[in-house]
Amino acid sequence: MQLSIIGTGHVGLVTGACFAEYGNQVVCVDNDVRKIETLRGRKMPIYEPGLEELVLKHVDAGKLRFSTEIRDAVRDAEVIFICVGTPQLPSGAPDLSYIEAVSREIARHLEEYRIIVEKSTVPVQTGQRVKMTISKYVKKDVPFDVASNPEFLREGSAISDTLHPERVVIGVESKRAEDLLRRIYEPFNSTFVVTDIHSAELIKHASNAFLALKISFINSVANVCEATGADVEEVARGMGLDTRIGKGFLRAGIGYGGYCFPKDVEALIRIAHDLRYDFGILREVQNVNVDQRIRFVNRIEKELWVLKDKTIGLLGLSFKPNTDDIRESPAIEVGRELLRRGAKVKAYDPQAIPHVQRDAKISEQLKGVVFCKDAYEAAADADCLALVTEWDEFRKLDFERIKSTMSHPTILDGRNFFDPAALKRLGFTYHSVGRA
Ligand code: UGA
Repeated sequence: MQLSIIGTGHVGLVTGACFAEYGNQVVCVDNDVRKIETLRGRKMPIYEPGLEELVLKHVDAGKLRFSTEIRDAVRDAEVIFICVGTPQLPSGAPDLSYIEAVSREIARHLEEYRIIVEKSTVPVQTGQRVKMTISKYVKKDVPFDVASNPEFLREGSAISDTLHPERVVIGVESKRAEDLLRRIYEPFNSTFVVTDIHSAELIKHASNAFLALKISFINSVANVCEATGADVEEVARGMGLDTRIGKGFLRAGIGYGGYCFPKDVEALIRIAHDLRYDFGILREVQNVNVDQRIRFVNRIEKELWVLKDKTIGLLGLSFKPNTDDIRESPAIEVGRELLRRGAKVKAYDPQAIPHVQRDAKISEQLKGVVFCKDAYEAAADADCLALVTEWDEFRKLDFERIKSTMSHPTILDGRNFFDPAALKRLGFTYHSVGRA
């Protein structure tokens, strides 16, 4: 089928490449000329494992192309996926101006039946607004459908999440739209959840908020573990084997970050507030999440007594491994808090350092941090090594070497990543989150 994607961010680009992989002709559109030029120049604007290979494979096969014109998206494809960003406004509400602008632009070019599918994460009832906007700006009496098809991919495993989704959620108002979307997703061999548009929109926000809730819950349990000598890893395993609870998202640590969870939890609180409902449980999810980073820095401080002028080696800056994304990264928050308390910070991340250096705001926040070429450089002369993002390469570190160069062999593990027994055997003082 001929499909178009508007917005070539993480979701749009990955979705476009995966639709091409299942045999469709795809045009990806973005009004950011530089981004489209980068893609046409065979370079990826984001880091995502496997993306470059997949994109280039389908560009070379003539199945995937890039354009800056929404006209192309509307003319060439019966199904148009809107994947533009919905960033957080200073008020906490999502900024829907990109969705609105794209809806108007689609309306301007509409000549024959099209389905306009929202894939961006949007507040419940946005589909209705998209429909109203298109109806208002469309030139002639052209039939169209609006649908919702939320995305559940995770950064770092976006390709396999998209190619093999656990479910495909489709919110529709007509049989025609349902049939077309089912046809597109048939090769994905997944379970379909077909609902009205409002419910599909809410499935996305509720899913992200629930996953964030699980993380804050297990972090609260970790804090009880720490105070009692219980082990949160064991507790999480024992809980997770109950399929009603599930194993996922019970990894305790310094909390969640990234572009999605913080924004979507806040958005759902706002949506509920505007509907005169206080979603108080989610406010507590946020509080626990913020507190978790502070507790971690408190733990480092407790270990070193005074942080002022102590050197901390920070392992990780991205919000999670396998991505260079630093948005709302708990690792960066830990770095900032250490600086605030007067510590000297040396940081290493396998992918994120150029992003930190390019971002004026974050560079300012991390002013004074020395960026290192590897973990060994970050550890040299440090009073404490703090693991804040669990990149796989940190597992293979030569800890004998690290110990020999550190000022004091102390490791604070914010992601329960290292083996406590092994590090203690090597003579490290080792602390993690919620483990005795
Ligand atoms: C999240 C959702 O998992 C996706 O399903 C969704 O499509 C996406 O948001 C989105 O809305 O676009 P993502 O933000 O890429 O995906 O990252 P996750 O893997 O979910 O991790 C989010 C944060 O939670 C990370 O900071 C991670 O370190 C933290 N986390 C995750 C924990 O602290 N503990 C866990 O057990 C799991």
